[in-house]
Amino acid sequence: MFPTNSEPNNADDLQQALVEALIRPDHRISPIWFYDQRGSALFEDITQLPSYYPTRTEISILDENLDAIAKAIGSDRLVVELGSGSSRKTVPLLKALDRPSGYIPVDISADYLHQAAADLSKQLPNLPVMALVADFTTAFSLPPSLPAHRNRLGFFPGSTIGNLSESEAQSLLEHCHEVLGDEAAFLIGVDLDKSPEVLIPAYDDPEGVTAEFNRNLLKRINHELGLAIDVQAFAHEARYLTDPARIEMHLVALTDQTLAVAGQTYTLAAGESFHTETSHKYTIKGFSQLAKQAGWQLTQYWCDAQNHFAVLLLKATART
Ligand code: AVJ
Repeated sequence: MFPTNSEPNNADDLQQALVEALIRPDHRISPIWFYDQRGSALFEDITQLPSYYPTRTEISILDENLDAIAKAIGSDRLVVELGSGSSRKTVPLLKALDRPSGYIPVDISADYLHQAAADLSKQLPNLPVMALVADFTTAFSLPPSLPAHRNRLGFFPGSTIGNLSESEAQSLLEHCHEVLGDEAAFLIGVDLDKSPEVLIPAYDDPEGVTAEFNRNLLKRINHELGLAIDVQAFAHEARYLTDPARIEMHLVALTDQTLAVAGQTYTLAAGESFHTETSHKYTIKGFSQLAKQAGWQLTQYWCDAQNHFAVLLLKATART
């Protein structure tokens, strides 16, 4: 679902993703394209919305259980974070850990990564930090000369794993086992399945910020590809679906839309939609089974009082 090899930031890749979405019957386009500058700012706004519970819930789970989490993780670990992280989650964790050996944020966006790594170094001046520009959804390997460490910890907060299909999530966890080794632990944030009465407003807020975030994809496309898609002719929709449990975000054409891209015309009939994001919602049991098949065993987990979100600690199982 994520483009490979290169940074997803050039107009050619975006045009290719758009054309592929128009050709595919499901009109799916990867959610990575949300995050231009405006999209990243809108996502920040989403995390502050009363109805968007995941970010604040995960932060409070981490805060409230920091000592127990740090103790369960143990000493002298090299921390490898998938994504360059929000320092609101990473800094407290690194401070709580006993003698962390170093911190390696892995992110595909070099600019954002180096900025985040520099900010973190200011707050933790004695911790070796090595930023790694890589697409962690495909094969990545750690830099050759690492700070001395006893074992490794993967950290993957934010329920970003929910954007992957179950088979993609399993491949990612398998690959992380390979990269992090048989002695590794993995701390991961997972959004839990729950009532659509809670889920739908989280992805279709009364303030309209998520709608704006979703429509910004079309604005970005217009801007970067020089197109004139009628953004207002598309409605934001959040759908709750089961088997597997997930939220899908769509941009639904309100009337027939003809799009001219690279000398070709494509049509979306009224009611058809771009499928812009899937956000899987797990149960603890379902996620631990998926992790087990990828070489990880659930050792402990922490939830909020309403069981909306979970932070899971996995340990690598020896490979056979
Ligand atoms: C960043 C993937 C965790 O799925 O909840 C928020 C992105 N999309 N509102 C999510 C998102 C719409 C978010 N993740």
